[in-house]
Amino acid sequence: MDKLIVHGGSQLEGSVSISGSKNASLPILAATLLTKESCIIRRVPDVSDTNYMLQILQNLGAEVERASGTVIVRAEKIGHEAPYELVRKMRASVCVMGPLLSRLHKATVSLPGGCVIGDRPVDLHLRGLEGLGAEVQVEGGDLHLKCRELRGKTIDMRGKHGTTVLGTDNIMMAAVLAKGTTIIEGAACEPEVVDLANFLNKMGAKITGAGTTRIVVEGVKELHGVDHTVIPDRIEAGTFLVAGAMASTKGITLKRVEREHLTSVIELLQDAGFEIEGSGKTLTIRPGARRVGCDITTEPYPGFPTDMQAQMCALFATTPGISVVRDTIFPQRFMHCSEMKRMGADIDLNDGTAVIRGVDHLSAAPVMASDLRASAALLLAALTAKGATEISRVYHIDRGYEHIDQKLVDLGAHIERLKV
Ligand code: EPZ
Repeated sequence: MDKLIVHGGSQLEGSVSISGSKNASLPILAATLLTKESCIIRRVPDVSDTNYMLQILQNLGAEVERASGTVIVRAEKIGHEAPYELVRKMRASVCVMGPLLSRLHKATVSLPGGCVIGDRPVDLHLRGLEGLGAEVQVEGGDLHLKCRELRGKTIDMRGKHGTTVLGTDNIMMAAVLAKGTTIIEGAACEPEVVDLANFLNKMGAKITGAGTTRIVVEGVKELHGVDHTVIPDRIEAGTFLVAGAMASTKGITLKRVEREHLTSVIELLQDAGFEIEGSGKTLTIRPGARRVGCDITTEPYPGFPTDMQAQMCALFATTPGISVVRDTIFPQRFMHCSEMKRMGADIDLNDGTAVIRGVDHLSAAPVMASDLRASAALLLAALTAKGATEISRVYHIDRGYEHIDQKLVDLGAHIERLKV
């Protein structure tokens, strides 16, 4: 398991190119199961999660080729069982249920366990799939789904925590070849859902309303192969904006971003005292007159994303004043705070809320990554901490950030990756 040694205090400057979106790539890769023809998908980030998904597709029988950021998938002959040993590694594997049901009218996927950010139920996925005509059985930790046919219906995706991103994806992919029209009420509006809908429409699907809470899918007979480029990773971009906010006096520039996907993050960083310029594909962040603490409550898109919550905690740990960060989507998603307290952060955690009192500086300490975004937060905290911080279990960070340590080194950070 690799470790990162981060020598704090280096100034970041220059520009960084943002990779394609992990969270757009995963459902799009699953959607290649909907056709026998070849699909070319460009800017798929080379991270563990996308590689797990490619292994699942291969295990199902698809032919997969990867040449740097471009992936070619041809799912001519496929089985219906996603292997436990792969699915257990990545919860997002559940998004193969919809395509397998559409293509084969059956699917077996292991029930995803929870993870450190909290319980990860799939009840809304299953309720929606049953609404379209699937029969669901849970046996031996596996979900067994089958149907005679899928028929369009009105499906409500809302649950007690609001809606579900991958659940919306699953229902969309189960509806594209169904008989009749499906209306998805309470759909997730994330840009990654829109990218999936664009991919499916290029394949010949008839989807309207993606990006709103009401998506309409008119079932078609079959889908064909496509050539598609995934959207930029808005969470990687947000993470680098926070890196610039924390460790750059001259400012840094992000290239290949989609500014409109980052509105809530940009607005919050501006409220926190930073200047952010640029439009469309390039953003530059610089320090403003003074830094101030802020209050954040995470919400479904276009609200402030839960996937940026940990990174903001790292920023607020050394921001003068008090900041309150509440995660309504994953109330347990605060493992990063316990580790940052080892570095001297002053944080009280209570009932899904972190109250952060900014300290003058953090100090290096051995810390342990626990999940993808918590790892990013620790890396950001270490950039400004006094001394050399050792971060273990960095495989968590490699799940969703493409060469993040090298990108930071190219910006001026002093980071060593130890293979242990
Ligand atoms: C997606 O996960 C993202 N993952 C997550 O990013 C992100 O944190 C999450 O959406 C919320 O924005 C991918 O896109 C691969 P949800 P997803 O279903 O779809 C509850 C990262 O760091 N819920 O939208 O699995 C659930 O408990 C990852 O890149 C149900 O109650 O999340 C949660 O409270 C982490 N029943 C809320 O909904 C269900 O059937 C949102 O979950 C499904 C979800």
